[in-house]
Amino acid sequence: MSSVKQNQPQPSCHTLFSLRGSLLTLAILTLLSFTYLSLKYTTPSSQVTASVGKVVDAGRSEEVEDADDDEFGDVYHSPRVFKLNFAEMEKRFKVYIYPDGDSKTFYQTPRKLTGKYASEGYFFQNIRESRFRTLDPDQAHLFFIPISCHKMRGKGTSYENMTIIVQNYVESLISKYPYWNRTLGADHFFVTCHDVGVRATEGLPLLVKNSIRAVCSPSYDVGFIPHKDVALPQVLQPFALPAGGNDVENRTSLGFWAGHRNSKIRVILARVWENDTELDISNNRISRATGHLVYQKRFYRSKFCICPGGSQVNSARIADSIHYGCIPVILSNYYDLPFNDILDWRKFAVVLKESDVYQLKQILKKISQAEFVVLHNNLVKIQKHFQWNSPPVRYDAFHMVMYNLWLRHHTIQY
Ligand SMILES: *[C@@H]1O[C@H](CO)[C@@H](O)[C@H](O)[C@H]1NC(C)=O
Ligand SMILES: *[C@@H]1O[C@H](CO)[C@@H](O)[C@H](O)[C@H]1NC(C)=O
Ligand SMILES: *[C@@H]1O[C@H](CO)[C@@H](O)[C@H](O)[C@H]1NC(C)=O
Ligand SMILES: *[C@@H]1O[C@H](CO)[C@@H](O)[C@H](O)[C@H]1NC(C)=O
Repeated sequence: MSSVKQNQPQPSCHTLFSLRGSLLTLAILTLLSFTYLSLKYTTPSSQVTASVGKVVDAGRSEEVEDADDDEFGDVYHSPRVFKLNFAEMEKRFKVYIYPDGDSKTFYQTPRKLTGKYASEGYFFQNIRESRFRTLDPDQAHLFFIPISCHKMRGKGTSYENMTIIVQNYVESLISKYPYWNRTLGADHFFVTCHDVGVRATEGLPLLVKNSIRAVCSPSYDVGFIPHKDVALPQVLQPFALPAGGNDVENRTSLGFWAGHRNSKIRVILARVWENDTELDISNNRISRATGHLVYQKRFYRSKFCICPGGSQVNSARIADSIHYGCIPVILSNYYDLPFNDILDWRKFAVVLKESDVYQLKQILKKISQAEFVVLHNNLVKIQKHFQWNSPPVRYDAFHMVMYNLWLRHHTIQY
C-alpha cells in the first residue's frame, strides 16, 4: 500500500509537466499565428506591401493567391484557408440522401421556396441539384435525413405526434440501412428552419446528441451545440427590392427597428427608444406588404438596423439588413451567428449584448462615419453568403452551409 502511495505523486507530476509543456507550446503557437494574422490582415497597406514584395521575390503562385485574397477582403477569419478548403470541398464532398419516407411528410420534392422558412426549402432543393449528392452511400462523407418538420406543420398534427412520426421514420432508416449504426448517427444530419424541427426530433436522443443539426434557431436553451451543429441563416426570400450597396450618402437615419414585441428585449427596445428623434424605432410592426414597400425602404435609408431576438435568438431581419446594405446590430445573448467560424461578424455587423439596449444610441453614435463606411463596404462583400439560389451558386448560402458541414465531417471517424 505504502509503495503505491509513494509512487502516486510521480505520474501526476509528469502529467503536470507535460501538461504545462503542451500549454506552453499551445500558447506559443497561438501567439505566432496571431502575430502572423495581424501582420498579414489588419493593415491593408502592409498587405499591399507584402504582396508587392513577393512579386519582386518571384514565387508566382503565391502572389496570385494574395491577389484573390484581396477580393475576399478581411471579413474572413482566414481567407486563404477558407478559399483552399472550399475548393477541396467542391472537389470531394459527397452526401447521400435517404430516399425513403412518405413524400407528403418528408419531402422528396421541395415545398415553396418563399417565406420565413425558405432556407429549409432551398436546402432540400439545392442538395438535389448540386454536385454534392451521391447515389452511392459508400462514397458519402455524410448522410442527409430529409426530415421536413415545416411540412408537417399546419396540418393540425400535434407536437407529440410529430415526434412519433420522426421517431418511426428514423428508426426505419436505422433498421433498413447499415450506415447509422456505424457511428450512431454522427455522420448524419438534418436541416430545419422552424423550431418545430428541433422539438419533433426529441424522441430520438441520438439524433439530438450525435447527429449534426442545421437549424435556424441556434440557441443554447434549445440544445444547440456550437461545435457540432450548424447555424442555418434564416433568409426570407424573395427580396422585394434589389440589394443595397455603395449608397452611404442615402443612409441618413442612424438606426431602425419595427417589429412584433414578442420578446423581453423587443419590449425594452421599444419602450426605451420609441420617441427618440435619432433612432427610428417603431412601437408597432410594419407589414412587409404595406404599400410601396415602406418597411423595406427604411432599410435603405438607415445606417444601422437593430436585430433583437424574438421568440428565438434569430430573425429574418438579419438577412434583410444584410441584403439592403444596413449594418445589422445583433441584440441577442448566446447567439452563434451563421458562419461564425468562417466570417468575422465584427467586420460587417455590430454585435451587442441584450443589456446594451439602454446605451444603444450612444454606442451607435460612437461609430464614426469612416468606420461605418468600412462596415458597409464589408457588408456588401458578404451579401452573397446570405442569399439562396436555384440552382445554387458558388459561395451562396447553400454552399456556406455545405462548407460548415464539410468542416464538421472532419471530426467524425468512420
Ligand atoms: C395523433 O395520433 C393519433 C394516433 O395516430 C391520432 O388518433 C390523433 O388524432 C393524432 N392527434 C393529432 C392532434 O394529430
Ligand atoms: C442497428 O442497431 C439497432 C439497435 O441495436 C438494431 O435494432 C438494428 O437492426 C441495426 N440495424 C442494422 C441495419 O443492422
Ligand atoms: C439615393 O436615393 C435616391 C432617391 O430615392 C435614389 O434615386 C438614388 O438612386 C439613391 N442613391 C443610391 C446610390 O442608391
Ligand atoms: C412616447 O410618446 C407617447 C405619446 O406622447 C407617450 O404616450 C409615451 O409614454 C412616450 N414614451 C416614452 C418612453 O417616453
